[in-house]
Amino acid sequence: MPHPLEQLRDDALREIGDAHDEKALDAVRVRHLGRSGSISAWGEQMKTLGKEERPVVGKLLNETRIAVTVAIEERAGTLRSQKENEAVANIDISLPGTPSERGSLHPITQILDRAIAIFRRMGFALADGPDIETEWHCFDALNTPPEHPARNEQDTFYLPDGRLLRTHTSTVQIRTMQAAPPPIRVIAPGAAYRRDEVDATHSAQFHQIEGLYVDENVSVADLKGTLEFFMRELFGAETEVQFRPHYFPFTEPSLEIYVKSKALKKGDQWIEVAGSGMVHPAVFEAANKERGDKAYDPEKWTGYAFGLGMDRLAMILFDIPDIRLFAQNDLRFLRQFA
Ligand code: PHE
Repeated sequence: MPHPLEQLRDDALREIGDAHDEKALDAVRVRHLGRSGSISAWGEQMKTLGKEERPVVGKLLNETRIAVTVAIEERAGTLRSQKENEAVANIDISLPGTPSERGSLHPITQILDRAIAIFRRMGFALADGPDIETEWHCFDALNTPPEHPARNEQDTFYLPDGRLLRTHTSTVQIRTMQAAPPPIRVIAPGAAYRRDEVDATHSAQFHQIEGLYVDENVSVADLKGTLEFFMRELFGAETEVQFRPHYFPFTEPSLEIYVKSKALKKGDQWIEVAGSGMVHPAVFEAANKERGDKAYDPEKWTGYAFGLGMDRLAMILFDIPDIRLFAQNDLRFLRQFA
């Protein structure tokens, strides 16, 4: 004779197999595993058993509970997949689906990606810094005195706490030198902000790629070679590059970079695309002071820096007449770069 528990198990397993939907299965579960179900009742009964019988029945009861629990889980899985199969049984998977709108990269993102790829091939690492900056990182550390026009309320977005939206990515030069000793070879792509009068060529927010290269014996020739190579990679081998003397407080000498290329629409015009120069010793000294060491000894290290105007580069490359188009979110414009 099988033990009544074995009988109970066999009955329960049969009921589970017969349950044809979730509701019926749940009823079986309550009947056997529920708080006042048959298996719990056996648990109660255990207390009345003698010392010898108890471990034997206890083991059997455990096995029964496990067998029933597992069978219910399996059956639930089977019922679920049956239901899912039925739900899709009448769907014609060969019908075309509802197309979802395909997005595309913004032209500024596209040119940033291309430019970054070129610099990475030349061994530049990526660096970055915050858009909301201290005045010190944006101006003082970059040898820009309090009376300099760039610091003017009319030119810069100041926050009530004295910080500001960085007016150029040159702030990342300082942050990079604070964080690590030379040699340094980084680019820092990012946004910059100025309180400019907005027109076809000026926007309150624009994009730059900053570059900083510090090593022993870095010269203007390195700067020119690197940026000439970059411009030719970006605009084509026939691109001409011109360096014109200029002034920035944080470089000496300073050079503005112009390009001209027959491959472009405005092929006969020199177009200004970047500021650059040799890092001013005062900038190295500011970094040293903040670091509390002499890591950037201007007697030992030299470096060049540049800041590329990426909106300008995109306008030339894609022949875009108005900088405001970049921020207007007009799909008729953006789709042309998909
Ligand atoms: N920060 C300058 C600007 O925004 C560009 C620049 C960067 C010039 C690095 C020299 C060196 O106009």
